[in-house]
Parts: sequence; C-alpha cells; structure tokens
Amino acid sequence: MQRLILVTSLLLLFINCKQQPAIPTGLVTENAMVVSAREEASRIGSEIMEKGGNAFDAMVATELALAVAYPFAGNLGGGGFMVYRKNTGDIGAIDYREKAPLSAHKDMYLDSLGNVVPDMSTVGATAVGVPGTVAGVMEVHKKFGSLPLSDIMKPVIALAKKGLIVTEKQAKRLESYRERIVSVNGDSTKFANVYKAGDTIKYPALAKTLEKILEKGRDGFYTGEVAKKLATFIQEKGGFVTEEDLTKYEAKWRQPIVFKYKDLSIISMSPPSSGGATINQIFKMVEPYNISEYGHNSVKSVQLFTEASRRAYADRNYFLGDPDFVDIPLGELLSDSYLKERMKNFSFDKATLSSDVSHGEVEIVESSETTHYSIIDSEGNAVSATTTLNGGYGSKLYSDELGFFLNNEMDDFSAKPGIPNMFGLIGAEANSIAPEKRMLSSMTPTIVEKDGKLFLVVGTPGGSTIITAVAQTILNVYEFNLSMQEAVNAPRFHHQWLPDLISFEEEGFSDEIKAELKQKGYKIHEGRNRIIGKVDAIRVLPDGSLEGGADKRGDDTAVGF
Ligand code: DON
Repeated sequence: MQRLILVTSLLLLFINCKQQPAIPTGLVTENAMVVSAREEASRIGSEIMEKGGNAFDAMVATELALAVAYPFAGNLGGGGFMVYRKNTGDIGAIDYREKAPLSAHKDMYLDSLGNVVPDMSTVGATAVGVPGTVAGVMEVHKKFGSLPLSDIMKPVIALAKKGLIVTEKQAKRLESYRERIVSVNGDSTKFANVYKAGDTIKYPALAKTLEKILEKGRDGFYTGEVAKKLATFIQEKGGFVTEEDLTKYEAKWRQPIVFKYKDLSIISMSPPSSGGATINQIFKMVEPYNISEYGHNSVKSVQLFTEASRRAYADRNYFLGDPDFVDIPLGELLSDSYLKERMKNFSFDKATLSSDVSHGEVEIVESSETTHYSIIDSEGNAVSATTTLNGGYGSKLYSDELGFFLNNEMDDFSAKPGIPNMFGLIGAEANSIAPEKRMLSSMTPTIVEKDGKLFLVVGTPGGSTIITAVAQTILNVYEFNLSMQEAVNAPRFHHQWLPDLISFEEEGFSDEIKAELKQKGYKIHEGRNRIIGKVDAIRVLPDGSLEGGADKRGDDTAVGF
C-alpha cells in the first residue's frame, strides 16, 4: 500500500513537472548553507557566515577545513577550481590547479624505448605537480574576503589540534590505502597506524603549517621555511618540485564558460578544466530533444545522454588543454551549428559506435577521490568549488613534518598521445607536458541560474565521471523535477567515448533497461560497478530558502542556518 502511495505521488510529481518545483527532501535553511564531504568542514564554513562572513570567507574556511577533516582529497598539497556568482549577478572563476615543475618535459614519464613507465606519474614524489590550493584561497580572500584571515583560520587550526573522529567510511578507506601509503613513506609515517571508526586523529603538524599560513598568508607556504622543507622533502624522495617552482606559483582568475539551456543559464569552469566546455556540449546536444518526456533514467534518456557524452568526450580529449599553452577552438566547438552537425548521425534505433567517432580501446576506472563543496551566503552570493589531490591521498607521499599529502596530478597530463591515464582518458598533443603548464582537468564546479536568478550550486568528484554526474544532477532537478536531495541520490550512469561502454551504478537500473540498450548495440560495463560521483549541491527554493543535496554515497553533510 505504502509503495502504491509512493508510486502515485511520484507519478503526480512527474505530471506536475514543469509547474511546481519538487518538494524538498534535503536539509532546508532560511539564510545560508555549506554542503561538503565532512560535517566538520560544512559546520566551520556555515559558522563563518553566521559570524557575518560572506560565501568567499566560508570558501576559504571550508577548503582549509577539508584539508584537515578529509585528507583523502581535501588538501594543501593539491589544487582546484572555484566558480562564483555574486548576488549582483557578477560571475567569475579562479584556477588554482597544480602546474608542471620547471624541469618537466614532454617525455618525462617515458622510458628509453618510449613506453610509459608504470606508476611514475601516479605514485610517489615523481607524480607531484606544484600545489595551488593555498595560493587559490589566499587570492580569493584578498579579492572578496570580508573577515580577517585570523577569524577564518582559527577554527580550522583548532580543529586540526583537537582532531576528528574517524567515520566508518574513513576507516575503510584508510585501511584499503594503508599498504600503498606505507610503501611510499615507510612504516613510521602517521597513516601507517591502524585507525578504527570512533578513534580520534589529531593533526599537530598540519596545525603548525596552517599557523605559518595565517601569519604570512600565501608566502607562509610558497616561500620561507615551509617552501624549503616541502621542496627538499619532494626532491629527497626523487621528485621535481623546487623552491623556485613554489615561489613562482600563481592562482589565475578565469572567465567561466556560460551557456543557455532552455531558460537556464549555466556557469561552469573553463580550461584548463574541460568541465564547462564538455557539459556545454552535452547540454546543447540534448536540448533539441524533449528529454523530460522520455522519463528519468529510461532507455531513451540514457541513449540520448550517452550519445551526447560520447561526442563531447571525443572532442574533450583531442582539443582541450591549458589555454595559456594551446589554442583551443572553443568558439567552434561550442557553436550551435557544429553541435547540431555532431548529432546528425544519432538515431534512437541504434547505438553510434565510438570507433565511428574515433578509435582506441582502454579500461575504465571510476572513483571519487576529489571533493566538491557548495556554498550560498545570506546575501545570495554563491561559491562552487572542487578541489583534489587526484588519486585517493594523491601520490600517497605524506610529509609527516608539514602534515599533508601531495598530489599525483601530473597523471592528468597525457604522458603519451593515445595512451590512457588512470581515468581511462586518452589525451592528445593539446594536453602534453611542458614546464609550468597546467594539466587538463574534468572538474566541473557549476552554478545555474533560472530566469536570471540563482537556482543551483553543484559539483562532484569522480575523475572523468565528474562531467556526466554534474550534467545528470542538473537534468534531474530541471527536467525530471526531483528535489535537490533526490537529484543527488538518484542512480547515475556514464559514457566517455572511449572505452565504448556505458557504466551504470549498481542500484537503480533494471536488467530490462540494460537488455534493451544491448539490443540497440550499446556495450555495457559488466564488471564491478563503483559509485559515480559524490555530488554536493544546493537548490534555491521559490521562497528564497535553500535545500541541500548531500550525497548519501559518502559522509557528506549540509549545514546551514
Ligand atoms: O582534475 C581532474 O579531472 C582529476 N584530477 C580529478 C580527480 C578525481 O576526481 C578523483 N576522483 N575520482
């Protein structure tokens, strides 16, 4: 009976689709909200806003709190991207992506026969790019901050000293990575210890590094004592980052990608992330079809989304790279006529083969080792930020002295054209390695306006699956009228051109749907299907209150007031 009521009310919801926004099922607050991977980080960000700070102050606090509370992906030793929309409608973005060290060169991960050296761009010091996070948050604070840095950083430093309780999920992650961390750092490193759920981990070394940053700002990390220790440590372990690399690092303000989808205006990250350009292509290829009529996760909507993704990823991998180093034909790639032409050979009767779009055979890997947070303050300013070490605990290289992990972002470059990286992404010349170049990313921090007003703040980890997870979450709210929390929880699927496979999350896609797709010529990833993305998002409700969507796949939590 209960099921019947549920099904009927869901049906009614779908019928009312375009008239009435979905009833919220996530946390609702009146004024402000942070949704992030750990409750402690969301709470610090929210409290900063309760004390009168704006969304940018909260960004600095949340990003640094994640470095403490979520060492799996939160970081001082990595980088990220942030897109903002102020309550005035002004928009912008900052790129605090890592970059290649000065000594880097195109073939640095190849042996004398020209083959990629296994693990060299993924494990240990050789994989480390010049970190950008501290420069990013300090630049945001300088430009938009309203509270003194000490008000923002003191709670974070206090959290590092007091420590955090290990969650069930964290204990599992630490256990599954422990051996790899020990093999890079030896068995006296902090994370060689076995931590069980309920234990408290304190971070005194990280607290000290944060104190240096509080004292000296950006220079507290990129010059002086910390920079010296960091560069020496990385080089002693065989890596390439020098003090000069650190001194020269700068975060960069960028123009975000902006495009229309029906009455939405979608604002997302521009190169060196591929996120914005690729979701722009996907949405524009989907737009001519009435996807809401096909039904959520139905055969037809899976087909349409897959075919758009297939074509968009093929372009992503070939054309995109660091815009300061390569010319990207963005105008052409995002033009209506080009995208219309790209979908010309699509039919609902039969799958297009990726080999007809281009060629290559590779393995797919999905994971969720980056982290995203979404913020709206009581004035209506919005921040969408995704930050990463790349792999889980990055390169696994951990500075016990400074208290943080270092990224393995160098693997996001194309070490050799045509050879896939750890996400199965195949790169081309545009994303080859060069000194001081930024590696191409898939991170897609995004803000959506509806009828010119702030509507959604959304983003996720997930490597190559980030782009499709963000696009599906937006479609779930807008086309399928799910609440923010439902849209985040809904089962997801992914296709990235190569390998020519659709991956489905374990739950939520029936055997019938898969059989029908196979019959139309789609190939389905049959192995163990992992989670796709871990989305943290906020929806602005018609009365101006906020609904959080904190992904049930992790420890993610919305906090607000
Ligand atoms: O920038 C990128 O696209 C990747 N380094 C993101 C890595 C990521 O999301 C890891 N989690 N799956």
